[in-house]
Amino acid sequence: MKGRWVVVEGLNAAGKTTLMDGIKEYLHSKEQSFTHSREPGSSIVGERIRSLLLDGKESGLQPITEVLLFAAARHQHIVEVIEPGLRTGKYVLCDRYLPSSISFQGYGQGISLAVIKKINDEATVGLVPDLTIILDIDPELAAERIAARKGEVDKYEGYDMEFQKRVRQGYLDQASNPKIGGPGKFVVIDASQSPTDILSECIGWLKHYEL
Ligand code: TMP
Repeated sequence: MKGRWVVVEGLNAAGKTTLMDGIKEYLHSKEQSFTHSREPGSSIVGERIRSLLLDGKESGLQPITEVLLFAAARHQHIVEVIEPGLRTGKYVLCDRYLPSSISFQGYGQGISLAVIKKINDEATVGLVPDLTIILDIDPELAAERIAARKGEVDKYEGYDMEFQKRVRQGYLDQASNPKIGGPGKFVVIDASQSPTDILSECIGWLKHYEL
Protein backbone atom coordinates (compact mmCIF):
# COMPACT_ATOMS: atom_id res chain seq x y z
CA MET A 1 0.00 0.00 0.00
CA LYS A 2 1.45 3.36 -1.06
CA GLY A 3 -0.59 5.75 1.09
CA ARG A 4 -0.59 6.63 4.76
CA TRP A 5 -3.42 5.80 7.10
CA VAL A 6 -4.03 8.09 10.07
CA VAL A 7 -6.79 7.52 12.63
CA VAL A 8 -7.97 10.06 15.20
CA GLU A 9 -9.59 8.66 18.33
CA GLY A 10 -10.88 9.77 21.70
CA LEU A 11 -13.87 10.33 23.92
CA ASN A 12 -16.70 12.36 22.44
CA ALA A 13 -15.94 16.11 22.63
CA ALA A 14 -12.18 15.50 22.78
CA GLY A 15 -11.74 17.78 19.74
CA LYS A 16 -11.44 15.27 16.89
CA THR A 17 -13.27 17.45 14.38
CA THR A 18 -11.15 20.53 15.04
CA LEU A 19 -7.98 18.46 14.81
CA MET A 20 -9.11 16.79 11.59
CA ASP A 21 -9.85 20.20 10.07
CA GLY A 22 -6.33 21.29 10.99
CA ILE A 23 -4.76 18.15 9.53
CA LYS A 24 -6.69 18.63 6.29
CA GLU A 25 -5.55 22.26 6.04
CA TYR A 26 -1.97 21.14 6.65
CA LEU A 27 -2.17 18.47 3.92
CA HIS A 28 -3.76 21.01 1.53
CA SER A 29 -0.84 23.36 2.17
CA LYS A 30 1.53 20.52 1.32
CA GLU A 31 -0.49 19.73 -1.84
CA GLN A 32 -1.07 16.21 -0.58
CA SER A 33 -4.25 14.38 -1.53
CA PHE A 34 -6.34 12.72 1.12
CA THR A 35 -9.68 11.15 1.93
CA HIS A 36 -11.51 11.81 5.18
CA SER A 37 -14.05 9.35 6.51
CA ARG A 38 -15.69 8.33 9.77
CA GLU A 39 -16.79 5.26 11.66
CA PRO A 40 -19.40 4.11 11.79
CA GLY A 41 -20.28 5.43 8.35
CA SER A 42 -18.71 6.63 5.11
CA SER A 43 -20.40 4.06 2.92
CA ILE A 44 -24.09 3.72 2.11
CA VAL A 45 -24.39 0.62 4.25
CA GLY A 46 -22.17 2.13 6.97
CA GLU A 47 -24.31 5.27 7.28
CA ARG A 48 -27.45 3.14 7.61
CA ILE A 49 -25.75 1.09 10.31
CA ARG A 50 -24.68 4.35 11.99
CA SER A 51 -28.24 5.54 12.38
CA LEU A 52 -29.30 2.11 13.61
CA LEU A 53 -26.60 2.25 16.29
CA LEU A 54 -26.60 5.90 17.29
CA ASP A 55 -29.88 7.64 16.60
CA GLY A 56 -31.42 6.16 19.72
CA LYS A 57 -34.63 5.05 18.01
CA GLU A 58 -33.57 1.41 17.85
CA SER A 59 -34.02 -0.32 21.16
CA GLY A 60 -33.14 -3.81 22.23
CA LEU A 61 -29.79 -4.13 20.46
CA GLN A 62 -27.82 -6.84 22.21
CA PRO A 63 -24.23 -5.85 23.14
CA ILE A 64 -22.75 -8.42 20.76
CA THR A 65 -25.08 -7.19 18.03
CA GLU A 66 -23.58 -3.74 18.52
CA VAL A 67 -20.05 -5.10 18.13
CA LEU A 68 -21.10 -6.95 14.99
CA LEU A 69 -22.76 -3.87 13.53
CA PHE A 70 -19.74 -1.65 14.19
CA ALA A 71 -17.58 -4.34 12.60
CA ALA A 72 -19.89 -4.64 9.59
CA ALA A 73 -19.75 -0.89 9.00
CA ARG A 74 -15.95 -1.08 9.42
CA HIS A 75 -15.61 -3.76 6.78
CA GLN A 76 -17.58 -1.72 4.24
CA HIS A 77 -15.44 1.30 5.12
CA ILE A 78 -12.24 -0.66 4.54
CA VAL A 79 -13.28 -2.11 1.22
CA GLU A 80 -14.93 1.01 -0.16
CA VAL A 81 -12.73 3.81 1.22
CA ILE A 82 -9.59 2.78 3.07
CA GLU A 83 -8.05 0.22 0.72
CA PRO A 84 -8.73 2.23 -2.46
CA GLY A 85 -7.31 5.39 -0.84
CA LEU A 86 -4.15 3.63 0.31
CA ARG A 87 -3.67 1.92 -3.04
CA THR A 88 -3.76 5.25 -4.85
CA GLY A 89 -1.14 6.69 -2.51
CA LYS A 90 -3.24 9.16 -0.56
CA TYR A 91 -3.41 10.04 3.07
CA VAL A 92 -6.45 8.21 4.44
CA LEU A 93 -7.79 10.10 7.45
CA CYS A 94 -10.31 8.32 9.65
CA ASP A 95 -12.42 9.55 12.50
CA ARG A 96 -12.37 6.42 14.69
CA TYR A 97 -11.54 2.81 13.92
CA LEU A 98 -11.10 -0.44 15.87
CA PRO A 99 -9.78 1.30 19.04
CA SER A 100 -13.29 2.74 19.50
CA SER A 101 -14.75 -0.77 19.67
CA ILE A 102 -12.09 -1.87 22.15
CA SER A 103 -12.70 1.21 24.31
CA PHE A 104 -16.47 1.69 24.08
CA GLN A 105 -17.75 -1.88 23.72
CA GLY A 106 -14.85 -3.57 25.53
CA TYR A 107 -13.85 -1.30 28.40
CA GLY A 108 -17.11 0.66 28.48
CA GLN A 109 -19.73 -2.03 28.04
CA GLY A 110 -17.67 -4.91 29.40
CA ILE A 111 -17.62 -7.14 26.32
CA SER A 112 -14.66 -9.51 26.20
CA LEU A 113 -11.74 -8.01 24.29
CA ALA A 114 -11.06 -11.46 22.81
CA VAL A 115 -14.57 -11.56 21.31
CA ILE A 116 -14.21 -8.04 19.90
CA LYS A 117 -10.85 -8.95 18.37
CA LYS A 118 -12.18 -12.19 16.89
CA ILE A 119 -15.09 -10.41 15.21
CA ASN A 120 -12.85 -7.60 14.00
CA ASP A 121 -10.17 -9.94 12.64
CA GLU A 122 -12.65 -10.77 9.91
CA ALA A 123 -13.84 -7.20 9.46
CA THR A 124 -10.44 -5.51 9.26
CA VAL A 125 -8.79 -8.06 6.94
CA GLY A 126 -5.58 -7.54 8.91
CA LEU A 127 -5.09 -3.91 7.88
CA VAL A 128 -3.30 -1.76 10.47
CA PRO A 129 -3.24 2.06 10.48
CA ASP A 130 0.18 3.74 10.20
CA LEU A 131 -0.64 6.14 13.03
CA THR A 132 -3.42 6.31 15.62
CA ILE A 133 -3.70 9.61 17.47
CA ILE A 134 -5.56 9.44 20.75
CA LEU A 135 -6.89 12.75 21.97
CA ASP A 136 -6.87 12.19 25.69
CA ILE A 137 -9.43 14.18 27.66
CA ASP A 138 -10.62 14.12 31.24
CA PRO A 139 -14.21 12.81 31.02
CA GLU A 140 -15.40 15.62 33.32
CA LEU A 141 -14.09 18.21 30.85
CA ALA A 142 -15.65 16.25 27.96
CA ALA A 143 -19.01 16.28 29.77
CA GLU A 144 -18.76 20.06 30.26
CA ARG A 145 -18.11 20.52 26.54
CA ILE A 146 -21.03 18.26 25.61
CA ALA A 147 -23.35 20.18 27.97
CA ALA A 148 -22.18 23.52 26.51
CA ARG A 149 -22.76 22.28 22.95
CA LYS A 150 -26.53 21.98 23.55
CA GLY A 151 -26.92 19.77 20.47
CA GLU A 152 -28.21 16.22 20.35
CA VAL A 153 -26.46 13.76 22.64
CA ASP A 154 -25.55 10.44 21.03
CA LYS A 155 -26.22 7.19 22.83
CA TYR A 156 -22.70 6.80 24.26
CA GLU A 157 -22.42 10.47 25.26
CA GLY A 158 -25.46 9.88 27.44
CA TYR A 159 -23.79 7.06 29.43
CA ASP A 160 -22.59 7.81 32.96
CA MET A 161 -19.23 9.14 34.14
CA GLU A 162 -17.98 5.68 35.17
CA PHE A 163 -18.56 4.47 31.60
CA GLN A 164 -16.65 7.47 30.20
CA LYS A 165 -13.75 6.85 32.60
CA ARG A 166 -13.49 3.22 31.52
CA VAL A 167 -13.51 4.26 27.85
CA ARG A 168 -10.67 6.72 28.52
CA GLN A 169 -8.70 4.00 30.29
CA GLY A 170 -9.29 1.73 27.30
CA TYR A 171 -7.61 4.25 25.03
CA LEU A 172 -4.67 4.75 27.37
CA ASP A 173 -4.18 1.00 27.72
CA GLN A 174 -4.23 0.51 23.96
CA ALA A 175 -1.61 3.23 23.56
CA SER A 176 0.69 1.72 26.16
CA ASN A 177 0.20 -1.99 25.54
CA PRO A 178 0.54 -3.50 22.05
CA LYS A 179 -1.16 -6.70 23.30
CA ILE A 180 -4.36 -4.64 23.65
CA GLY A 181 -3.97 -1.99 20.98
CA GLY A 182 -2.35 -4.12 18.32
CA PRO A 183 0.76 -3.61 16.22
CA GLY A 184 0.19 -0.07 14.89
CA LYS A 185 1.79 3.10 16.28
CA PHE A 186 -0.29 4.92 18.91
CA VAL A 187 0.38 8.40 20.24
CA VAL A 188 -1.49 10.19 23.01
CA ILE A 189 -2.03 13.95 22.81
CA ASP A 190 -3.33 15.94 25.76
CA ALA A 191 -6.67 17.32 24.53
CA SER A 192 -6.84 20.00 27.21
CA GLN A 193 -4.21 22.00 25.28
CA SER A 194 -5.17 24.76 22.85
CA PRO A 195 -6.26 23.59 19.36
CA THR A 196 -3.08 25.19 17.94
CA ASP A 197 -0.82 23.26 20.31
CA ILE A 198 -2.71 20.01 19.65
CA LEU A 199 -2.34 20.49 15.90
CA SER A 200 1.36 21.30 16.04
CA GLU A 201 2.04 18.23 18.20
CA CYS A 202 0.06 16.16 15.72
CA ILE A 203 1.91 17.60 12.70
CA GLY A 204 5.16 16.71 14.45
CA TRP A 205 4.01 13.08 14.40
CA LEU A 206 2.66 13.25 10.84
CA LYS A 207 6.11 14.28 9.62
CA HIS A 208 7.34 10.81 10.53
CA TYR A 209 4.84 9.42 8.01
CA GLU A 210 5.37 11.76 5.07
CA LEU A 211 4.58 10.52 1.60
P1 TMP B 1 -18.79 10.28 16.40
O1 TMP B 1 -18.68 9.89 14.98
O2 TMP B 1 -19.49 11.57 16.61
O3 TMP B 1 -17.49 10.22 17.11
O4 TMP B 1 -19.76 9.22 17.10
C1 TMP B 1 -19.59 7.87 17.01
C2 TMP B 1 -20.07 7.23 18.28
O5 TMP B 1 -20.01 5.80 18.14
C3 TMP B 1 -19.25 7.58 19.49
O6 TMP B 1 -20.11 7.76 20.62
C4 TMP B 1 -18.39 6.36 19.71
C5 TMP B 1 -19.24 5.24 19.18
N1 TMP B 1 -18.48 4.10 18.64
C6 TMP B 1 -18.44 2.90 19.35
O7 TMP B 1 -19.03 2.81 20.42
N2 TMP B 1 -17.76 1.85 18.82
C7 TMP B 1 -17.11 1.91 17.62
O8 TMP B 1 -16.49 0.92 17.18
C8 TMP B 1 -17.15 3.16 16.89
C9 TMP B 1 -16.45 3.27 15.58
C10 TMP B 1 -17.85 4.22 17.44
